[in-house]
Amino acid sequence: MVYHVVESQQFDPETLQYLFKRADELRETPELCLKGKILTSLFYESSTRTRLSFESAMIRLGGMVIGTENAREFSSVAKGESLEDSVRVISSYCDVIVLRHDEDGAAKRAAEACDMVPIINGGDGKGQHPTQALLDVYTIYREFGKLDNLKMAMVGDLANGRTVRSLCYLLGKFDDIKIIFVSPDHLKMKEDIRDYLDKKRIIFREEEDLNKVLSEVDVVYMTRIQRERMSDKDYEKAKGKFIINVGNFHLIRKDARIFHPLPHVEEIDLPINIENNDKRVAYFRQAENGLYVRMALLDFVINSN
Ligand code: CP
Repeated sequence: MVYHVVESQQFDPETLQYLFKRADELRETPELCLKGKILTSLFYESSTRTRLSFESAMIRLGGMVIGTENAREFSSVAKGESLEDSVRVISSYCDVIVLRHDEDGAAKRAAEACDMVPIINGGDGKGQHPTQALLDVYTIYREFGKLDNLKMAMVGDLANGRTVRSLCYLLGKFDDIKIIFVSPDHLKMKEDIRDYLDKKRIIFREEEDLNKVLSEVDVVYMTRIQRERMSDKDYEKAKGKFIINVGNFHLIRKDARIFHPLPHVEEIDLPINIENNDKRVAYFRQAENGLYVRMALLDFVINSN
């Protein structure tokens, strides 16, 4: 059966444990377990980490990469080809497709159209970014040595950010997780995620004062205001509202960590010596972890299914 990766709630705790253990193994000893296999990067939206870490993961495992980083302009999408037709055709050229798209639900549509090779959702509009959630939770596991009994603040644009949505879905699988949402009033976490967390009995609350929560939490998960997904007026209302800088960094506990899916803009404004030397800054390690977790995931979807 083809194992598509569409949304983070599809992973059960056993699969997560397997992937994280496999990521640790491949970090220590890379294997050429995807020799002769081909990955297609099909990207309709810009990306640095997701595309390049997937491509690097494939190459490190002995595989090869084809693709387009601007499918709207440089593929037959420019001539009006549908996403469904594109993935049907591309699936005969490769063994896995990593898709990033600007429309919510695009990965699900692609997966429904493609029964030959796995589709991996590399981010779809305001919908989900399940492999980001995988690397976020893998980073929690590496930094804290556990996946339960944690308190996390999610900060910034929670209405448009797909990473926090996927992360909430994944955190719902673990015990004793508490979440504090800190966002501008017009960019609050949406109802579907709140309902899911209620169902999973995850305790969450909303706060408006970032400094008030910094000393309370194990993880401060910062996010960018998604300027490209809102009006100029809404962006101006949100911009610069929640920032980590030298003025409030000291409020973060010594054993806590700052995460960010990256890219970060003004919401993190720390000097380079802090970013390079203070263990609380975890977001570059988090981005690196993406490579290993994506190696494990590619091996899993291509070789185990
Ligand atoms: N975190 C993330 O998805 O980064 P990119 O947009 O650079 O892929």
